Amino acid sequence: MKKQTLIYNGKSKQIFATESQNFVIMTYKDDETAYFGVKKSVIPNKGMLNSKISSLIFQYLERNGIHTHYVEQLDNNEQLCRRATTLPLEFIARNVIAGSLSRRLDIEEGTVPEQPIYEICLKSDALRDPMINGYHVVALGLAKEETLTQILKIMQQINSLLTELLKKSHIDLIDFKVEFGFDSEGNLMLIDEISPDTARFWDSESHEHLDRDLFSRDLGDVEIAYKEVLSRLENVLQNG
Ligand code: C5P
Repeated sequence: MKKQTLIYNGKSKQIFATESQNFVIMTYKDDETAYFGVKKSVIPNKGMLNSKISSLIFQYLERNGIHTHYVEQLDNNEQLCRRATTLPLEFIARNVIAGSLSRRLDIEEGTVPEQPIYEICLKSDALRDPMINGYHVVALGLAKEETLTQILKIMQQINSLLTELLKKSHIDLIDFKVEFGFDSEGNLMLIDEISPDTARFWDSESHEHLDRDLFSRDLGDVEIAYKEVLSRLENVLQNG
């Protein structure tokens, strides 16, 4: 399938229409941003690395019963995906307190809560993705209650599956963000990406960041860390 018109141009990805109504091509950019685009840079090979990492993770989730938009990796930084009707929401799972939650509630980063925490945010750069709750979602018509219930169940499954996969790669899954949409038959599916740009990955032994915080907090070389994540995942998923 070939790229046709550009239908979405985001901070880190572009989405192109294809000759089929039901499929799109998603292209990962090398552009890196933090703090809602206030800090910007270009990281060589980041698009390719995130595309490959997210491909491996989406294929693993599909094999384990999670319906996703992923069809196949095309070029190095391109994927063929099912076209989605998207929900204007972002869902975050947190296994360890970090980032905005640490700041907002003044809890030391690295604190382990008694159970995972699930958050919902309205997807809006202009409003800085404000956190909302399930009542807002249903009352404002952003998603049906049954959809929300289904999503929270899938989030828990994804969290368990990813935690287990990453553990084998000696990575602790601190938190991650996911998005959902509906396929052409109206089935709920996981969309977007799961990569070190959208999740916090800490090395299990050293607790060093292997994620976008390296860029946002000037902690080290993003390309080297993302390459390390890809090679650890390839080792676990492709070499048993
Ligand atoms: O910044 P915060 O601590 O709320 O982020 C929680 C998790 O969600 C992190 O893994 C972050 O990379 C991800 N996230 C994201 N896109 C956003 C907000 C958060 O990928 N717009």
